[in-house]
Amino acid sequence: MQLLGFKDYRQQGKRLAQALKLEYQQVAIHHFPDGESKVTLPQIRDDEVIFCRSLDHPNDKLIELFLACQTARQQGVKRMTLVAPYLCYMRQDIAFNPGESVSQKIIGQWLGQLFDRVITVDPHLHRINNLNQAIPNTKTISLSATKLMSEFLANRPNPPLLLGPDSESEQWVMQIAEHTGLDWEIAGKQRHGDHNVEIMLPEIDFKDRIIVIVDDVASTGRTIAKAAKALHQRGAQTVNCLITHPLFADDAEQILCNACINHIWSTDSINHHSNIIQLTSLLAEAIKSEYLFHS
Ligand code: R5P
Repeated sequence: MQLLGFKDYRQQGKRLAQALKLEYQQVAIHHFPDGESKVTLPQIRDDEVIFCRSLDHPNDKLIELFLACQTARQQGVKRMTLVAPYLCYMRQDIAFNPGESVSQKIIGQWLGQLFDRVITVDPHLHRINNLNQAIPNTKTISLSATKLMSEFLANRPNPPLLLGPDSESEQWVMQIAEHTGLDWEIAGKQRHGDHNVEIMLPEIDFKDRIIVIVDDVASTGRTIAKAAKALHQRGAQTVNCLITHPLFADDAEQILCNACINHIWSTDSINHHSNIIQLTSLLAEAIKSEYLFHS
């Protein structure tokens, strides 16, 4: 088996290869002046390949994966696994207005056709129960970072109160609370636009509490910032956030800073200086047991 990584996710790919006792090899990408990509695979020596690349900023990455995948097939690869700790296009899961494409289904079907296995971490599945509904006709493995997050939080000096900023975050908050015994609450959220959200905190006493806002994704940062501001208004002592997928688009970090977030912590599903939890062990264990039992 060969593990092929990409420059933008090199450290994580290398760590994963090391944990699996595989050589790390890198797919070379050249961007032509007009924006097209040239993809060059390292020498293919095996009929089984793992591609490791997270799918934030996905548009170029998806095309490059497609080119890499088809080239590998042409070179005789029989089985291909995609390890994408952050899986893109999962949030648009229905057409909210006539004519809108349901990207979760379309991208999901495409990935299902390309790969024999797709492994990811905490995909944003809101209106469906399992990843196979989004990525049909292939083996899907959906892992959760909540155990690693729990271990991280359990080692904090003062037990925080966990706050999920919306109903979708409840699944992750509850799992962390189960592992750690920490108190938890869920806020209500209404989204009026990409950069406009409203947060309704539950009616409990937040005064002098240390809070950790837990969410799967921070994109514009507005959800967390609004929750943090509301918590400060209610007397919280410190507000931190723990994010699985730190997308942090455009001015997101500045917005969080303005909202007086004390610490921003995240997993390394996406490269960001807030990465404090490595997913390597979670991914490696899943791959090892998959290959042990199903190859
Ligand atoms: C949505 O349900 C997700 O769990 C996040 O709360 C959301 O994607 C965060 O987006 P933003 O950072 O743009 O408010």
